[in-house]
Amino acid sequence: QRRIVVLISGRGSNLGALLEARLPLQVVAVISHKADAAGLGLAQEWGIPTRVISAEAYAERTDFDRALQQAIDGFAPDLVVLAGFMRILTPEFVTHYQGRLLNIHPSLLPAFPGLHTHRRALAEGVAVHGCTVHFVTSELDRGPIVAQGVVPVWAGDDEASLAARVLSMEHRLFPHVLRAWVESRWVLEANGHVRWRDDSQEQNLR
Ligand code: GAR
Repeated sequence: QRRIVVLISGRGSNLGALLEARLPLQVVAVISHKADAAGLGLAQEWGIPTRVISAEAYAERTDFDRALQQAIDGFAPDLVVLAGFMRILTPEFVTHYQGRLLNIHPSLLPAFPGLHTHRRALAEGVAVHGCTVHFVTSELDRGPIVAQGVVPVWAGDDEASLAARVLSMEHRLFPHVLRAWVESRWVLEANGHVRWRDDSQEQNLR
């Protein structure tokens, strides 16, 4: 079975969705930079090894990233998955995991990279919003897109209602992408684009 390491910062609801999907892969470790991340408890309930690499313990970002890399590589994963990991990673780290590092982001990239995506989507008056699973590159939230899930924006939406709608889409999208990865149904091509082997557009969970 293929092995993944999941990095989290907090709640861990995406981690929970991955575990509940009972994908044909092994989550070999869950790693957080915060000892109080709720998702660590969830991992422990599932019997998954956890590690905390505390950012405060390192003066330099590069030292933290190096420690994180060592912890990850100790588990020899095929893929590293950022599921609500709220730290920017150094180019060295990103290069080390080139083509093996996936992130989920709560917007339809390239729209709304960065933070407060739901608030900004509402402020722009967009009709559709959603989430994106993409490869991580050194350019923030700009790596190759693997799949997107689209949700409508309703007139009565506020930040909380829109965030909840996107989050439940995230909980479908990430397991879908990882199952398809195990089944080799998509590939990252040399041109930097992801190609799905079926042309059903099924990768878009709209
Ligand atoms: C998710 O909405 C995820 O897309 C977002 O953080 C949340 C984590 O929730 N990630 C980012 O904003 C990355 N920049 P979770 O801990 O419940 O999975």
